[in-house]
Amino acid sequence: MSAINLDYLVQPDRVHRSVYTDPTLFDLEMEHVFEKIWVYCGHESQVKKPGDYWTLQIGRQPMVMVRGEDMRIHVLYNRCPHRGVMLCGNQSGNTGKHFVCSYHAWSFKLDGRISAIPLAKGYDGTRLTFDDPQASMVPAARVDSYRGFVFASLSPTGPSLTEFLGDSKVAFDDICDRSPEGEVEAVPVCHRVMQRSNWKFFMENQLDALHPSVTHQSTGVPARRVENRLKAEQGKAPLFFHYLSTFASSFDQWDSVQTVNFPNGHGILKAYMGLRPTDPDTLEYEALMKKAYGEAKAEEYLSRSIHHVLVYPYLSVQSPLQQLRCLRPIGPDRTLSEIWHFRLKGVPEAIYRRSLWYFNLVNSPATMINADDLENWTKGQWGLQSKGGDWVSFHREHGRDTETDGVSYSNKGTSEVVMRNQFKAWKAYMQPVVAGAAA
Ligand SMILES: [Fe+2]
Repeated sequence: MSAINLDYLVQPDRVHRSVYTDPTLFDLEMEHVFEKIWVYCGHESQVKKPGDYWTLQIGRQPMVMVRGEDMRIHVLYNRCPHRGVMLCGNQSGNTGKHFVCSYHAWSFKLDGRISAIPLAKGYDGTRLTFDDPQASMVPAARVDSYRGFVFASLSPTGPSLTEFLGDSKVAFDDICDRSPEGEVEAVPVCHRVMQRSNWKFFMENQLDALHPSVTHQSTGVPARRVENRLKAEQGKAPLFFHYLSTFASSFDQWDSVQTVNFPNGHGILKAYMGLRPTDPDTLEYEALMKKAYGEAKAEEYLSRSIHHVLVYPYLSVQSPLQQLRCLRPIGPDRTLSEIWHFRLKGVPEAIYRRSLWYFNLVNSPATMINADDLENWTKGQWGLQSKGGDWVSFHREHGRDTETDGVSYSNKGTSEVVMRNQFKAWKAYMQPVVAGAAA
C-alpha cells in the first residue's frame, strides 16, 4: 500500500472522499480508533442478574458483556479458545453459571476463566494447561462505567474513561439527573438498522443543523399543519406533533442554534425544542424533581440546553428524551446502528411515554425521519464512490467560529465546524498510521 498522507486526505476545509470509501483506511481506523478507544458496550440494567449477557462489536471484534457471579460486569471476547467458535450466538440472554461452547462443550466461568473441558485427561502432558491464559476467554483490556453506562477499551494503555469522554460525559449526567433517583434503566428493546453508508455520515448528520428543514420537510410541514389545526380546534395539540414539526423550522431558526465542539471530536447541539410544557404530568414530574434535589438544582437539571450530545466517533445521545444511538461499523459502506431508549427511575408513566413517542416517531426504523436520513446517507455513499469529484466540502463558516481552550463554538448553527472538529480528532487518532509507515 502506498504511504498515507493524512494532511492531504484531511484538510482544514475539505476531506478526500476515500476516507469514506477505502477498505484499507477502514481497516486502519478500526485498528487505530475503534479498537483502542473506550467503546460503549451497554447499560448495566441490560445485565441485571448473574449470567445475563449482551453481545456487541468493538471495532471488528465480537464481544460479550456479562454480569458475573460477584455482580461485576465483564466484557470478554466472544470466542472459545479451543477452535475459535463464538460462545454466544444470540444477541442477548442468560447463560447460567457458565458459557458453554456449542462445538466441544468447553465451559467457562462468567469472568471468562476456563471451568471444564470434556475428557480433560486428553490434555495431560501437552502444553495446554488450565492455568494457561490461552485456555480461557480473553477479557477486554479495560472495563469501566459512568453513571451505569458501561464502556470497554481493547487497549491496556491510553486515557481513562472520564478523560476520553471529557465534556461529553454531560450526556450521561443529563440523562440520569432528569430522574429524581439519579438513575435510568434501559428499555430492553433495541432497534437495529444496517446503514448502507460509512459511519461518518451518521456522525456528521447528528449536529448538522442545516439538513432538517430540507431532509425532513415532508414530515415536518404536514406535522405542523395538523398541530396548528388541533390547536385552533381544541386549544392544544399533543406534544408529539411538536417533536416532528420542529424539524421544519426555518433556516434562520436553525442558524441561531449553537453547536459546541469539544476535543476528541465530541460535541453538543444546544436545545431548540422547548421541552418544558406546563401540563399536569410535567408539573407533577417537576415537583418530584424539586423534592429530590431542591429548587435550584432541579432547575439546573431541567434547563440544560442540550438536544444532542455526540461521543465521537460512535454515539449520539439525545439526553432530554433519554435516547441513545450507537454505531458499530461493519465496513466502509456498512454501519450497524443500535437504537435505545431509557426509563427515568421514579417518574410518572406519562413522562416515560414521551420518551417512547420520540423513540418511535423519530429514531425507530419505521419513522419517516430516520428513513429520510438513511436515504441521504446511502446516496451520499454512492456519490463518494463515483469519479464525479474527489472532495467533500466543509467550507461553511470556515474561519468564523470562536475557539476557546480547544472548544469551538459556532457563531452560526449551520457552521460545518462540527465536521471540521470531527476530522481533527480522526486525524489525531490516525497519526500512528503515518508514524508506522515512516518507521
Ligand atoms: Fe435528519
